[in-house]
Amino acid sequence: MNAPLLFLNQEEVKQCGGADMKKTIDIIEKVFSLHHKGDYVLPDKAVLRWGDGDSESIMGRINGMPGYIGGEFNLSGIKWISSNPSNPFKANLPRAAGTIILNDPDTYLPIAVMDGTLISSMRTAANNGLAAKYLARKDSEVIGLIGAGVLNRTVLLALYEVLPNLKKVKIYDLDKNRSQQFINDMKSTVPVQMSISESAENTVKDSDVFVTATVSKEPIVKPEWIGQGSLYLQLGSNECEFDVVYETDKFVVDDWEKIKSRGGSTPAIMHREGNLSDSAVYASLGELVNGEKKTRENNKEKIYFNSVGLGIQDIAVAKMIYEEAKFKQIGKQLDLWGSPNTRI
Ligand SMILES: NC(=O)c1ccc[n+]([C@@H]2O[C@H](COP(=O)([O-])OP(=O)(O)OC[C@H]3O[C@@H](n4cnc5c(N)ncnc54)[C@H](O)[C@@H]3O)[C@@H](O)[C@H]2O)c1
Repeated sequence: MNAPLLFLNQEEVKQCGGADMKKTIDIIEKVFSLHHKGDYVLPDKAVLRWGDGDSESIMGRINGMPGYIGGEFNLSGIKWISSNPSNPFKANLPRAAGTIILNDPDTYLPIAVMDGTLISSMRTAANNGLAAKYLARKDSEVIGLIGAGVLNRTVLLALYEVLPNLKKVKIYDLDKNRSQQFINDMKSTVPVQMSISESAENTVKDSDVFVTATVSKEPIVKPEWIGQGSLYLQLGSNECEFDVVYETDKFVVDDWEKIKSRGGSTPAIMHREGNLSDSAVYASLGELVNGEKKTRENNKEKIYFNSVGLGIQDIAVAKMIYEEAKFKQIGKQLDLWGSPNTRI
């Protein structure tokens, strides 16, 4: 008896559809439907860090994100993902690096280990793409991106997928070279007009959809910059002033309990300090997907989407990759044991 374990590196994950945004958005839509129906198990993220919440922006952290997702996925697993904000600047390495382990639904034995870095960034973007599919104006043409890092690259792919009228992208980063590199990297994949923005304010103003995906712990976005009919997608932690949340017409989340438990994002801070009640949340994304709540109702509403990211999304996407890898016979078959040692 052995314990076969499939190992997939990032290139192999890609060969199995890991960079296919349309497929990823479709999977994430199914995940949110199951999430709303309660067909999942999702412990809180375990956060390993070397100080208080604020230390994460300097020292980084490693998150353990286990979960079980039901429905057609019926699989458990865990993503173990590190974040070191100085990596891109000091070592020319990505901020985040992840590994995913999948476990057999019956025996619970591990069946696969794969790169989780690409999957994590694709599924995070797909969450936000899905939110835009339901909440952005159908005629959205201009998007503003704050933060020229890894995530806004995949977020741009996701928005390009769901916004058929997209014509213009504005990008802003504290480091202008990173904005230029962003444009160089993305212009052939997303062939629309792209320009470097000189300020966060210009990036938000006149954008139909705008995104903050930064490592800033100081609020960036001010309520007076935000136009009617816009959608704000917030991925980082404390990136907007409290009034942005108060003045929005619809506040939508992936999972409010998990946002509160993680604690670092603007609405979580507001809630902890007694400045935001649970009733401020209009809907979860799953409620929109399942038609339980109305999506955008007119071209004037300002809508705000905040997400924390859920381990069940990683497991569902990893399952698709795993099935594809078995079908195409991609990856390296390892054996965890020669034979199980049950009597040491
Ligand atoms: N919500 C989710 O589901 C989810 C999932 C994963 C990661 N995240 C978060 O998304 C954020 C972005 O991740 P990433 O991988 O793209 O990071 P990254 O390190 O690759 O890029 C972050 C960029 O933000 C820029 N920046 C920092 N402060 C800024 C400011 N005030 N104004 C403009 N630019 C600024 C940096 O120069 C850098 O280019 C992180 O905070 C990460 O923790 C969210």
